[in-house]
Amino acid sequence: MKTFFHVNDIGDLGAALEEARQVKATPFAWKHLGQDKTIMLVFFNSSLRTRLSSQKAALNLGMNPIVLNIGQDSWKLETEMGVVMDGDKSEHLREAIPVMTSYCDLIGIRSFAGLKDREFDYNESVLRQFIEYGGKPVISLESATVHPCQAFADLITIEEYKEKKRPKVVMTWAPHPNSLPQAVPNSFAEWMNAADVDFVITHPRGYELDPAFVGNARVEYDQMKALEGADFVYAKNWSCPGVTDPAQYGKVLSKDRSWTVDERHMAVTDNAFFMHCLPVRRNMIVSDAVIDSPRSIVIPEAANRTVSAQVVMKRMLESL
Ligand code: CP
Repeated sequence: MKTFFHVNDIGDLGAALEEARQVKATPFAWKHLGQDKTIMLVFFNSSLRTRLSSQKAALNLGMNPIVLNIGQDSWKLETEMGVVMDGDKSEHLREAIPVMTSYCDLIGIRSFAGLKDREFDYNESVLRQFIEYGGKPVISLESATVHPCQAFADLITIEEYKEKKRPKVVMTWAPHPNSLPQAVPNSFAEWMNAADVDFVITHPRGYELDPAFVGNARVEYDQMKALEGADFVYAKNWSCPGVTDPAQYGKVLSKDRSWTVDERHMAVTDNAFFMHCLPVRRNMIVSDAVIDSPRSIVIPEAANRTVSAQVVMKRMLESL
């Protein structure tokens, strides 16, 4: 495996889930694979889970992780080509990438969408430069449009907790004070479409996700109707994806608190499990009562981030 951005990169999902089960049961069984190998984890943005779970996964595989916080530990980097570098950016990605990859065998990148220029973000312009100029296997640790390590961990969690062969999974938009990227809902939709689940997306009008990620999912604008009979409720905020009106890209169109997932919403489900990728804003995205309930699985979901990262790194080490 040379890149990990999309569900297709992992190949057969059943095989990947079986591998995840084995990795979780015996995390140190492949320690030999990472001996004398280094992974560089490059963060343009903040992180708790991705940073720690990626390091833990690398250590489980016997690899040496190096973490670099761009702009804090390093020079500020210019990401756009053809600009006059007369601002606060001291170095261009064009030089920084081959330098960084000369020190490692694998590289993971966290680089959020800027939410200003839809074309720049949806072209994955930063990630593409790492592929073009780095020459090493690249993992998206949440890039402009995708968060595949999160979506894989979400699927592993659904497999572990499902009580029906084909559960109903509902991804619901929920309010947030700030403008957030679409990477998590994009990837969750992409992975759920590939999985054996009944998948429904619900959000206020104007928040339509890119059709490339929505795929064949059912979109229901009535949140309560969408949640009826759900086995898993996956809450997430995202800003306007700008599909119908690119001028609205990245805008906050609604802060409607009636979309906050609370006990009223969970009451119409089939005793659903509650999921969120974290970090979560309590009583904006989800009520205290729901996230603190016995059906909330946000902590095991986060713990599975080590498992998903380890499967991906393991496969990359095996294909070096
Ligand atoms: N879910 C997730 O990616 O968490 P962090 O942003 O803390 O890494």
